[in-house]
Amino acid sequence: MGTIIVGAGGHGRVVLDILRQAHHVDPVGFIDSNPVLRGREVDGLTVLGSLPDIPELRRRLSIDAAIVAIGDNATRDRYAKVLSSQGLRLVNAIHPKASVADTVRLGRNIVVAAGAVICAHCRVSDSCIINTASIVDHESFLGRAAHICPGARLAGRVIVEDLAFVGIGATVIQCVTIGRNSTVGAGAVVLRNVEPFTTVVGVPARRLESSEDKKLAAAVEAVAS
Ligand SMILES: CC(C)(COP(=O)(O)OP(=O)(O)OC[C@H]1O[C@@H](n2cnc3c(N)ncnc32)[C@H](O)[C@@H]1OP(=O)(O)O)[C@@H](O)C(=O)NCCC(=O)NCCS
Repeated sequence: MGTIIVGAGGHGRVVLDILRQAHHVDPVGFIDSNPVLRGREVDGLTVLGSLPDIPELRRRLSIDAAIVAIGDNATRDRYAKVLSSQGLRLVNAIHPKASVADTVRLGRNIVVAAGAVICAHCRVSDSCIINTASIVDHESFLGRAAHICPGARLAGRVIVEDLAFVGIGATVIQCVTIGRNSTVGAGAVVLRNVEPFTTVVGVPARRLESSEDKKLAAAVEAVAS
């Protein structure tokens, strides 16, 4: 039986490479919503069609499993649920040069890229990406469809809630919580909890005001002066 990779973009290519290097699942093709890609080869693997084609493809080909290789957290999470409801088994892609401690509990549809390290007693929920050379230290918890970007480092007992994004090269000190759907900017150093649905940047990390926040602050200042 074979596995389809959903998403034939940059992250899809990384996932294909991991599956080939790990040798534990057999990728039979990509699925991608871009009609231009249909029938084309991406790194030697054919784009078989888009999501609505899956039931027909399953009748013709021996497909029993899938992995969603889409960078956007919410889309990856949604597609994983759709594929699972269609009876496909969601598999993990763990690079042979990643280090995952024996005591780590992993969900499904997880990507652990080359050089990533997940230390003792961490829990990683469904659809997370632990990207190239990132570190998730002891007893940390990653919620559903979180993304720890390349080179990011989480100290021990960090909680990253569902759908949160920890940007490239960011550092998070121990016992901090990164709230649901929040974003930690590239290179930030996070010393305090990050509220859900907020973006923080810089060293130390501070909330990045949205354009709406800025308009509100200007309006308040105008009234005050
Ligand atoms: C934090 C981030 C999401 C903000 O994106 P954005 O909302 O489009 O913000 P903008 O680019 O409009 O920048 C807004 C302000 O924040 C600053 N800023 C943006 N990202 C920053 C960062 N990582 N660190 C420090 N300051 C940053 C900008 O310089 C700008 O400042 P200004 O208003 O004084 O000019 C983005 O810059 C970022 O860091 N993304 C992470 C990318 C990443 O990790 N990619 C890896 C994928 S695998």
